[in-house]
Order: sequence, then structure tokens, then C-alpha cells
Amino acid sequence: MKSRVGKIFRNAGKGIDCIVFLNGTEPLHDMTFFYITGFTSGLFEGSAVFTYPDKSLRLVTSLLEQESARRADFPVRIFKSIQEREKMFKSSLRGCRKIGVNPPELTYRNYLLLKKLVPKAELIDVSEAVMKARVVKDRKEIATIRRACKISSEVAKEIIPYIAAGVKEYELAARINFLMQKKGASEPAFETIPASGPNSAEAHYTAADRTVQKGDFVLFDFGARYKKYVSDLTRTYVLGKAKKKQKEMYEIVLKAQRTAMRRIRPGVKASTVHNAAARMIDKTKYRGKFTHGLGHSIGLSVHDGMGLGPFSDFKLEKGMVFTVEPGIYVRGYGGVRIEDDIVVTKGGCESLTTADRNFIEI
Ligand code: GLY
Ligand code: MN
Ligand code: MN
Repeated sequence: MKSRVGKIFRNAGKGIDCIVFLNGTEPLHDMTFFYITGFTSGLFEGSAVFTYPDKSLRLVTSLLEQESARRADFPVRIFKSIQEREKMFKSSLRGCRKIGVNPPELTYRNYLLLKKLVPKAELIDVSEAVMKARVVKDRKEIATIRRACKISSEVAKEIIPYIAAGVKEYELAARINFLMQKKGASEPAFETIPASGPNSAEAHYTAADRTVQKGDFVLFDFGARYKKYVSDLTRTYVLGKAKKKQKEMYEIVLKAQRTAMRRIRPGVKASTVHNAAARMIDKTKYRGKFTHGLGHSIGLSVHDGMGLGPFSDFKLEKGMVFTVEPGIYVRGYGGVRIEDDIVVTKGGCESLTTADRNFIEI
């Protein structure tokens, strides 16, 4: 994908001779490898894509991935041994003095390998340039994320009939994962969170072995991976008739989400959006109970590089895709989070997730 290579080199500034994206073993991959190649099938362990300032690229991969790489419209070199792999890496870097690498997704082992292969070259951290390119999605990426969002939005509705007293949290997680894959997801985007009762106060609860009871909050946080891109959605339901406090918590979180979404538009500082939601919650008796950032960018990774937090001083741009996920967490009692995925548009934002956000008693 030449345009994506061009974007990264423009962000990196002049003087870089080559930027390499090198995978470790699953799951220690540089997802930029898939951003650049556009591959939606294949594992590509130990493979690398070398990109150059003229926007050309070259893939070095193993015989095992030959079939997956057949759709490449750029040169592909296939190795049959570790020795061959090193030779091909070396020849791809011949004459390069300044080589860009992406440390957040490069294993230390592979970093040392590059140093060994090209001892005279300077390895330069270009991760900022990579992140800035990846965070603004192109039309094709948005269409793919939209599809991942559609899958999870449908599942948020279809899981409702399975929520009942006596069901284990892990059964519900299994059902969610099954439904997502039945609708075309390749896998869950991350470990599905099925938090019931007091467990819903733990933002990243994954233990999943409690039995659901009448009167519980039931919070699901899950996402679909579709053609390598993800969605990330949270809905909180109440099993049975809700207590006044449960409804109150829900309505505050919903209002905070709406308030934040209204602030989103190109040119707005990211922290402004977080602060709008946080201030709204802090004006209520749940002050201090919203304990995380409002959202994060999504794409090829669930946490794709940038966040909407109190210290995020970058400005929003058209094409960025973020979660908007305020929450209130009361230890020992339970929590509410409502999470949707939005794309920044010319005049505001559009929600890519479409599951019902209204308060639902089951
Ligand atoms: N599912 C993890 C998160 O919402 O960030
Ligand atoms: Mn989530
Ligand atoms: Mn999230």
C-alpha cells in the first residue's frame, strides 16, 4: 500500500533510508506489517516488510506463508531457512545508513538481530510517525471497522435473551464469542468481559466464574476482529427490575457519553472531550468514580496508539476512530460503562456502533 508508506515517510521527515516492520512470534507482531501489506489472511511470524522513501516496499517471508502472500502487488522474497532469512534481511537493508524501526511493536530479540545484521547503520525510532499515520484511517479502513462494529452491535442485542439468573458469566462470554464469529468475525478482538453484580465495578474483569443473579448489573465489554480490524463495545444491562441507584448511575453515564460526543469535531483538543464527560460525572454524587480515560483509538489494535484522556493534548482529525466509554464504578456494588466507537467527521462524529444505548431491564 504505497499511499500508507508515503504517509509514514512524510511524518518521519527526511534522511531515513528504510523503515522496517518486523514480526516476532504470535502475538508479538507489529500490526503495522498488516497496515502496509494490507494482508487479511496469514500469520507471518518472523516476516518483515521493508519500506523505502520512494514508497516501494518488499516483503521477506517464509515458505509457510507463500500462499497467504500470493495477492501481494509488491516484490516478495521467500526464505527456507534462518540463514536465508538473515541474508534477505541484509540485502534489503544494503546501503541504508539510517533505518527506521517501530519499538512499541518490535521485540528486543529482533532489535538485536537488526543490529547484528547492519552494525554500521543507525536504528532510529520512527514510532511517532507510524502512530500518526495509523491513527487517521482511510476510507477502506473505516469501512472495515464499520463492519466489525456492526457485528458487535448486533451481538449486544442478541445476547439479551441468554441473560438469566443461574447462568455463569463464562457461558455468556462464550455465547458472545460464538455469535460474533457466526456473523463473520475471525476472533474476539480481546478477552470478552462478562461482569455481573459487584464484578462490574472492575473495569477489566475477566475471571468470569460468577453465577448471574436477579437484580445484577450485567456488563459486557467485547469486540469483533474483522479482516484484522477491531471494534470495542460495552453495554450494561440490569437483570430484573432495577433499583433506583442502578438507573441513576446509568443515566449519568449516558448523559456523560452524550456530552462528550457533542464536543467531538476536527480541531478540538482531545483532553477537552474527556474533561467534558469527567466534569459531568464529578458534578454528581459519583465524583471520582470515573477512573479511566474517556477513550482510545482503535484500528488494527484495540488500543491503537492515542487516547482521549485528561492529558491528551493532540487535536482531533477527520478519520480518527475512537471509543467513547465513560463509566461509574462503585466497589462492592457494581459499575456501569457505556462504550461506543465513533469516527471523527468533517462536522462532528458518527457512531459506528449502533446498539441501543437506552437503559434496559431484562
Ligand atoms: N475493552 C477494553 C477497553 O475498553 O479498553
Ligand atoms: Mn471495551
Ligand atoms: Mn475500550
